[in-house]
Amino acid sequence: MFGRLMPETASLQAVLTDRIFIGLTIASALILALVIGLVLVFSIRFRRGSKINRHPLPEIVSREFEIGWTAATIFLFVFIFWWAASAEIGAYSAPPGAIEIHVVAKQWMWKTQSSNGAREINELHVPVNAPVKLIMTSQDVIHSFFIPAFRLKRDVLPDQQTEAWFQATKTGTFHLLCTEYCGTDHARMIGRVIVMEPEAYASWLSAQPEGDDLAHQGERLFSERGCAGCHAPGSAVHAPSLAGIWERPVPLDGGRFATADAAYIRDSILQPKRDVVAGYAPVMPSYAGLLDDGEIQAITAYIRALGSEPAVVRDLGTP
Ligand code: CUA
Repeated sequence: MFGRLMPETASLQAVLTDRIFIGLTIASALILALVIGLVLVFSIRFRRGSKINRHPLPEIVSREFEIGWTAATIFLFVFIFWWAASAEIGAYSAPPGAIEIHVVAKQWMWKTQSSNGAREINELHVPVNAPVKLIMTSQDVIHSFFIPAFRLKRDVLPDQQTEAWFQATKTGTFHLLCTEYCGTDHARMIGRVIVMEPEAYASWLSAQPEGDDLAHQGERLFSERGCAGCHAPGSAVHAPSLAGIWERPVPLDGGRFATADAAYIRDSILQPKRDVVAGYAPVMPSYAGLLDDGEIQAITAYIRALGSEPAVVRDLGTP
């Protein structure tokens, strides 16, 4: 019924979003019609010169009636809040096992890389009917990742990581836009998302040039850029081992704990002196300007590939 009025709908999230949008539009239209109708009725009935009784009515509104309609209105608003919030929260948490795509925005292009190393610029190939998680950061200014047909829009920020996910429900080619003004060529920061049948996607992926996967790139950077000099087991410099820390609690100076997720690893690389691991000296220099966002993502993928081993993390706090 509303198909013609809405932009193309090509993801699970788009269906949910449209349902909320159309539901609220209908509810608002009904309330608007009621208000306008009453304004018309009253302005005709009580127009100047009409012989209608203008004395106040006797008290007919009971306390129960008052409580009833107030409660009904509150429930209606709580329902609307729950409805929209649950869709919004769902849009942030990708289901486990989603395909992970790393996105780096820069003036003025989208660089994407899947975890097996396939890189693209201003294009993103994904399979249909499979959840895809986007892990995004910006190399310069604030951009915003927008696929109208998926109703997906998420800011992409420098020095921070944002995530989003979608599940495409239709094959085809869809617009990918930047929707945050980011400089001269903002309007040309346009890409396309190509949604393919799973078999077609698999053959596209295998036809991509043999790139190192992200974790192997990270492993190489880890030794080339000198991380291994201190963090490798058996190093003369006393630095925490990074094996097994992924998504585990890390004890910090001052009795606090951090979770070794992508954001923490990123902060630790760029601002190592801010949150020092308990029991270690703040000797690590910042790598801001020495590693770009793609390289930080690769090193993060490497640390992640090293696993989550609770036993190792316990050792972290007792050097
Ligand atoms: Cu990037 Cu606008």
